[in-house]
Amino acid sequence: MSFQILGTGAYTPEKILTNDELSSLVDTSDEWITQRVGVKERRISVCESAAEMGAKAAQRALDAAGITAEQLDLIVGATVSADCICPSMSAMVQKQIGAHCPAFDVNSACSGFLFALDTAAAFLERGGIQYALVLGAERLSRIVDWTDRSTCVIFADGAGAFVIAKGENYLGSHLFTQGGDSVLHIPLGRGNSPFYEKEEQPLAVHMSGQETFKFAVTQIENDLKLIANQAGIDLSEVSWIVPHQANYRIIELAARRLRIPIEKFVLNLEYYGNTSSASVPICFDSLVRSGKLKKGDLIALCAFGGGLSSAACLIRW
Ligand code: ACO
Repeated sequence: MSFQILGTGAYTPEKILTNDELSSLVDTSDEWITQRVGVKERRISVCESAAEMGAKAAQRALDAAGITAEQLDLIVGATVSADCICPSMSAMVQKQIGAHCPAFDVNSACSGFLFALDTAAAFLERGGIQYALVLGAERLSRIVDWTDRSTCVIFADGAGAFVIAKGENYLGSHLFTQGGDSVLHIPLGRGNSPFYEKEEQPLAVHMSGQETFKFAVTQIENDLKLIANQAGIDLSEVSWIVPHQANYRIIELAARRLRIPIEKFVLNLEYYGNTSSASVPICFDSLVRSGKLKKGDLIALCAFGGGLSSAACLIRW
């Protein structure tokens, strides 16, 4: 099962929300957020939907790939903060960019982009399609509780996308799910039914930070070792690691446990925060556009989040 990346793109809204501005909303400080999370500022949408941000990232990826939306055969999107339950975020992106192919979303929280990428890879392997768009787009500011300082300082908005085609550069992947809602839960709320009797939590991100933290460090370590093993390489051969941008301390701890220099981890969370399924493609796009990648470089992508879920994959540039 393999593919090559033809182009990448990212989009984040213009509004910058700094830690100091957040400190006027909840009882927090720039010092606490910088030290405990590593975020200084994040982008927040004031007028764009998740699908609109997704369409902008998708168009940039199409431009980089040098193909048109009409040439796409498949769109697989990932999101936990779609604008509506129906149509899917991907269906709205399809309309906005002018594509005509099948489009659907997968939901695996912050690991969603890597689940979507693996899904598209399987479609390419099955045959009958040439080009696929894979994207993650999130408007988490819509579903965060802005009175809860333990979550609202972490999350942000944005979108990232890849255009892929059949090729030989996807060297291995691993998807993991440990189902349950006790650690991380985004319920839809009470709902409309006059018949349903159970109490439901309100719409918001409900998260046990420390449990998520421990899960994340363990999974980054396990998943990266696993994909390296699968591909028959040593992790020291990997030039770059693009991790989900949740917390600098998570990445630093995982790097130490794996004995991989932190400089190999691509980081942008200081400026963009945690954009859930959009975080890996946004960060990957910044690596591509930095000009630092060399042909033949091995790049590992890894993510973790609600589900609980985690995923990793290995790509040769
Ligand atoms: N400002 C100031 N103080 C705060 C804040 C804040 N924003 N948030 C929490 N605190 C306080 C707590 O109230 C607590 O105070 P206390 O000791 O008086 O009770 C203290 O700081 C420590 O709280 P912890 O929860 O232990 O803080 P921790 O160091 O674990 O950091 C955090 C919290 C940032 C949430 C961290 O646990 C984390 O990053 N977890 C992982 C989150 C993650 O990776 N999520 C990704 C998946 S999301 C998805 O899939 C949608």
